[in-house]
Amino acid sequence: MSDLPNPLRHGLRIGRTPEPCTVVIFGASGDLTSRKLVPALYNLAHERRLPGGFSVVGFARRPWDDAQFRQVLLDGVNANSRSGAVEAELWASFADGIHYQPGSFDDPSAYALLAARLTELDLRRGTGGNRVFYLATPPEAYPEIIRQLGAHGLHQSPHGGWTRIIIEKPFGRDLASAQALNQQVLAVFAEPQVYRIDHYLGKETVQNIMVFRFANGIFEPLWDRRSVDHVQITVAENLGVEDRGGYYDHSGALRDMIQNHLMQLLALVAMEPPVSYDADAVRDEKVKVLRAIRRIRPEEVATYTVRGQYDAGSLSGRPLPGYRDERGVDPASQTETYVGLKLFVENWRWAGVPFYLRSGKALPRRVSEIAIQFKTVPTMLFAETPMHDIEPNVLAIKIQPDEGITLKFGSKVPGQPQIRPVTMDFRYGTSFGVASPEAYERLLLDCMLGDSTLFTRRDEVEASWSLITPIHQGWLASPAQPFPNYEAGSWGPTSADEFMARDGRTWRRL
Ligand code: BG6
Repeated sequence: MSDLPNPLRHGLRIGRTPEPCTVVIFGASGDLTSRKLVPALYNLAHERRLPGGFSVVGFARRPWDDAQFRQVLLDGVNANSRSGAVEAELWASFADGIHYQPGSFDDPSAYALLAARLTELDLRRGTGGNRVFYLATPPEAYPEIIRQLGAHGLHQSPHGGWTRIIIEKPFGRDLASAQALNQQVLAVFAEPQVYRIDHYLGKETVQNIMVFRFANGIFEPLWDRRSVDHVQITVAENLGVEDRGGYYDHSGALRDMIQNHLMQLLALVAMEPPVSYDADAVRDEKVKVLRAIRRIRPEEVATYTVRGQYDAGSLSGRPLPGYRDERGVDPASQTETYVGLKLFVENWRWAGVPFYLRSGKALPRRVSEIAIQFKTVPTMLFAETPMHDIEPNVLAIKIQPDEGITLKFGSKVPGQPQIRPVTMDFRYGTSFGVASPEAYERLLLDCMLGDSTLFTRRDEVEASWSLITPIHQGWLASPAQPFPNYEAGSWGPTSADEFMARDGRTWRRL
């Protein structure tokens, strides 16, 4: 091994530090807080990215005090932090800024106490009236919390500070409910204060899509209908619904994954270069893609969509019950745990190029990738390899877990006349040698810095729902599906393969 420093690591720690502020987490006794949010905040403290005086106030119904809350968070950080076991000294100073405010979301007196607590923190810890309100509750509670924040004047900061609100997914269940929620939020907060989370946008590999496309000269000229045959976006999970059956059975893969995460991936792959790398310029281009996607009408769902639900099977050698036997799930459920879609972005760049999206639970591997499959050569020069044996060039952007980018191309087999596919590989792990930050680290930091580029704007979320809602309506109006229709641990229903075969294509084997 060389002793030389890895030049790709140079400068990785450089970044802005936010102004002192308080993050108020509603629903702080829940899973998200101890599994994701506070481990992310702790890691930011570990990397010296948090400002002095940084404070957290947890707000939830459980009658905890500060000490109990801190203990729950300490256990959560120990179990979930990517920086390993907690460092005692660092934790002591981090925990000093953590407080708990018990209260019911509809109790005005709890908000009055919260306001007093925030003012006291401003004085004692110098947080200057800067606040982030984080809605990590079930979505039913969002409207009431937003209303109470407004009623208590907490949507505006005293003494010239700033106030922002982060809203967790799901942002609505369909177009009408997303519009209603937008109205409720925007009756109290202004759009620049609102940060709608899609945690996929916080993943390094997802941020790199724009860098790959717009910081390199050689790919963009190929990035269109002239060179691309089709695009496949896969987000596969090798878990069932676990303990979230009650939520999931009212959601399903279309609304849980496609409406947000996969549509965001599609938008980033298909967008035009923005005029600048600022929040509105980037989101303007993403919205244009979503608007250019041809709507699938309810009566067209059989042509453009396919769905499945997992049956009992085994995952990594362990048995998994069928979806209908999971806790919280209706034994006759028609909820899909697998979706395949074919979409067309009807603009000058992409007209006629299908974008195939698939996402499912209880699949054999956890793997997310975007594959750009290029057109094959028009005719074959090398007689030993017939045209139909030639594999097309594929550029695969590997989102997780083996983060990287690969390019497949044909190469002559040494000493023989045949052509075989080979790959050029880039891997984050070997090139940079540092662990990528968790998505929530980046997103929390960006919100504190006032950068909403990686958050979803109002028109974006509504444009996405306007595509998804007619599909869901079409499914509701269709005859009951022969669910379950794929075994846990398989790559989805056979109808998904037939769906691709109708176009003379196959899903990528991952
Ligand atoms: C969430 C979904 O938004 O994303 C979950 O609600 C899903 O059902 C999760 O498991 C996947 O996220 P990741 O980061 O593990 O790919």
